[in-house]
Amino acid sequence: MDPELIRQLKKLHEKYAVMGQDLSSYLDGLLYADYLTYWEYIHLDTLLTLQTPKTHFPDEKVFILYHQITELYFKLILHELEQISFKEDIDERFFIERLDRVIRYVKHLSDSFDIMVDGLEKDQFLRFRMALLPSSGFQSGQYRLIEIQSSDMLNLIGPDSRESFKGEPDLKKLLDKLYWRSGATELASGKKTLTLQQFETKYMNVFYETGKRYEHCNIWQLYKTKFSNSIEKELIIKKLRTYDQLINVHWRLSHFKSAAKYLFKDPDELKATGGTNWQKYLPPRFQKIMFFPELWTAEEKADWGKAAFTKSNDEV
Ligand code: HEM
Repeated sequence: MDPELIRQLKKLHEKYAVMGQDLSSYLDGLLYADYLTYWEYIHLDTLLTLQTPKTHFPDEKVFILYHQITELYFKLILHELEQISFKEDIDERFFIERLDRVIRYVKHLSDSFDIMVDGLEKDQFLRFRMALLPSSGFQSGQYRLIEIQSSDMLNLIGPDSRESFKGEPDLKKLLDKLYWRSGATELASGKKTLTLQQFETKYMNVFYETGKRYEHCNIWQLYKTKFSNSIEKELIIKKLRTYDQLINVHWRLSHFKSAAKYLFKDPDELKATGGTNWQKYLPPRFQKIMFFPELWTAEEKADWGKAAFTKSNDEV
């Protein structure tokens, strides 16, 4: 018998013996097991049955698929953020490499958003969206988790409260003021839409638990505690700025373009038709969400999300 095979069998024997298991029974199992196929491994058949349009308009399938693709990318981002935050003895190399992965994913998302902006027939969109109410991408829990795992909660509260809540240690008080809790409100009355109410009911506890878990190890905290004196500091700052800009300016602007293309109406008409405050809420220059505000100059902050900002800071 091939000596390499004998060596492998011995090692397998040791592995199973440690757990009090009999290798021979497992080898029998191997004998009867089917070969793995691609479609089983990635659960392809299940994946391809997850698109169930509510209407007969063909473009609704494009809309569903692109949302699902985005959520899978969000999952990839969260997968990396979690590994960064809980890596024991994290070093510069790991931090930078994993940030690069996150940056790559966000860039793909931002660059591909024209699938929504140019890849849907407006007339179809305006009809099938009525069958999807009150759901909205606003209700993406993963998007909010990316925010919470990237930055301090203070940086995610509404621009009007940010200054006065500096130093506030109570996570619950900060959660009450999260910037998006003033989004998806009715333009006519300013009241929370059902979209927002549903979302809060489902996720607020998860956001609180995640906030607690990442309070001292979100990406910003890791930078401050581990890398702000590193010899790689400059490179790390560059990566963090790129990530911030991609997700909080580029992605948001790409997304805003789709809302503007399909939903733009005169504010009075919007009020009358029960529209939300999205025109005053979605453009990044209004909320000025930055994961790493300390890394931007006063001028850059003032220009955040404006054409001047994109021109002068495009590191992406
Ligand atoms: C034609 C395509 C799209 C349109 C017209 C659109 C429209 C909107 C509007 C109007 C809002 C504000 C909340 C509301 O009034 O419902 C919103 C929020 C949001 N949408 Fe979309 N959306 C589109 C595609 C997407 C996609 C593909 C995603 C990916 C998951 C997404 C994720 C989000 C998120 C995360 C928010 C909240 C943003 C924030 O709080 O700053 N949207 N969208």
